Amino acid sequence: MKRKTIVKAHIIATSIAVLTIGCFFSFSLIAEIIGNQEFIKQVKTGILYCLPVLLFAMPILGITGKKLAGKSQSPIVATKMKRMKFVAFNGIILISLAIYLYFRAINNNIDSTFLYVQIIELLFGAINLTLIGLNIKAGMKLSGRIKINTAHNMV
Ligand code: HEM
Repeated sequence: MKRKTIVKAHIIATSIAVLTIGCFFSFSLIAEIIGNQEFIKQVKTGILYCLPVLLFAMPILGITGKKLAGKSQSPIVATKMKRMKFVAFNGIILISLAIYLYFRAINNNIDSTFLYVQIIELLFGAINLTLIGLNIKAGMKLSGRIKINTAHNMV
């Protein structure tokens, strides 16, 4: 496969990851703030149905990233790889929490336990969005879209 095509797939997978996780995060937060049980149920159901999209995009992101990295010794690539491992690990936790919250919501168990688990899920979501953001910035340095600052070239 041409490098250009792999970069395209990498960018599409990045966009899907940002859009899905960003939407899951915002809708969960808005639903919690509004506090309407029906809306919470709809949001949790929507997230569950959209999970496969994310489950499809994340491995593509990792695989295309690895292909683009090749045998690169760049510290930026090494940092991206480390972050990707955290993103994947947090992702597994996020998926488990999303399924748990879905079942609690549809069974009308929207109580204090639901709220605590929801807060934990939002925290993990924020961590993953930050890590993805840092990987985007690092990726844009690798592709030359943004200049590498030699004093901070690990970011
Ligand atoms: C959360 C995971 C990741 C995100 C969000 C991400 C995002 C990006 C973005 C936005 C670009 C810039 C593409 C462009 O503008 O042309 C990029 C480039 C790149 N990424 Fe990633 N990436 C991720 C994971 C990885 C991993 C795990 C690796 C491999 C270690 C990797 C290796 C690269 C390389 C080598 C480039 C430069 C491609 C080129 O030659 O233009 N990425 N990445």
